[in-house]
Amino acid sequence: MSSSLIPPAAPAVTEAQIQQAVALLDAGELVAFPTETVYGLGADAENPQAVARIYAAKGRPANHPVIVHLGPGGDPHYWVRELPADAQKLIDAFWPGPLTLILKRAAHIPPAVSGGQDSVGLRSPSHPIAQALLGAFDARRGGRAGVAAPSANRFGHVSPTTAQHVRDEFGDTVHVLDGGASEVGIESTIVDLSRGFPALLRPGHVTPLEIAEVLGVAPRLPDGSDATAPRASGTLKAHYAPRTPLALLPFASLEPLLVGAREGGMRVALIARRSSAGDWAQTPNVNFIAAPDDPRRYARELYGLLRTLDGARVARILVEQLPDTPEWIAVNDRLGRAAAAFESHE
Ligand code: TXA
Ligand code: MG
Repeated sequence: MSSSLIPPAAPAVTEAQIQQAVALLDAGELVAFPTETVYGLGADAENPQAVARIYAAKGRPANHPVIVHLGPGGDPHYWVRELPADAQKLIDAFWPGPLTLILKRAAHIPPAVSGGQDSVGLRSPSHPIAQALLGAFDARRGGRAGVAAPSANRFGHVSPTTAQHVRDEFGDTVHVLDGGASEVGIESTIVDLSRGFPALLRPGHVTPLEIAEVLGVAPRLPDGSDATAPRASGTLKAHYAPRTPLALLPFASLEPLLVGAREGGMRVALIARRSSAGDWAQTPNVNFIAAPDDPRRYARELYGLLRTLDGARVARILVEQLPDTPEWIAVNDRLGRAAAAFESHE
């Protein structure tokens, strides 16, 4: 993983707690665990009944694939039909870390993990508690275990970046290992290598430029364009949404909404650069949050902020649009999806 990440100051999880979690996984139960990106809702990847429990808990359609998480000594070859040279290069460069690879699934791996598709998503997280859990589950199973885990939130909602967020989603129905706040804060970068060319399915902490440096070729976007170029808009689907309506607009287009809110006596949240916000940063009905100017810090804080604002009784969350440049691609993607969830309300 990139050197810009500081190791998380994780609360201590004891060996006994890891063994208790492994016993739950072994018995086909769910365990929520920290990763450097977001918290995952884990189940034994080779147990279709256990994987079905994930879908039931999340309220997620069963044709949505989940990512299989491997421990520090995990062998990707076990899960795939073939491991292309590009996959090995990306594994060497970014594992353990926030990069998921989509590869052709080996015939003996149950299709339930990939929603029936012939592929499988693999990732080896770097968070020490994720590694301890995955390593111990591996040991229990003789060295080849994988934990299927989507983000530990209800379907379509914001991913959790703390153990408390997971409890807020599922109450005490799910066992949670507490590893502190996730350092990356948004879900892993996903690169599809199952179709003969690298394609970026989801932007994240590992950037298209970093991937291009390793592969010698830029990953493609779903529309066929080069993912290291500025992002084309219009392909966003509603997802990752807070409960409070969110608008993502250039500051000039937010101002009429701010004026309207002030006149209507409505409380709103404003996430913008201080230089753009001007006097709106001190207006009584505006809950102003200075936007981090570094994309990775913005990513780390984003989901926690959206959850806090969901609890702050604001009528709307107004977010200043970010630059349409490669370093902002991941934050733009998540904010764009959050806004898309409310576009019909405009
Ligand atoms: O950072 C992350 O990736 C987190 C942590 C827990 O590891 N996990 C995560 O999982 O974000 P989830 O389920 O919320 O998102 C997984 C996404 C799916 O929605 C799908 O887009 C893609 O990964 N995916 C997984 N397996 C796939 C496959 N076989 N083919 C295509 N897409 C796949
Ligand atoms: Mg998710």
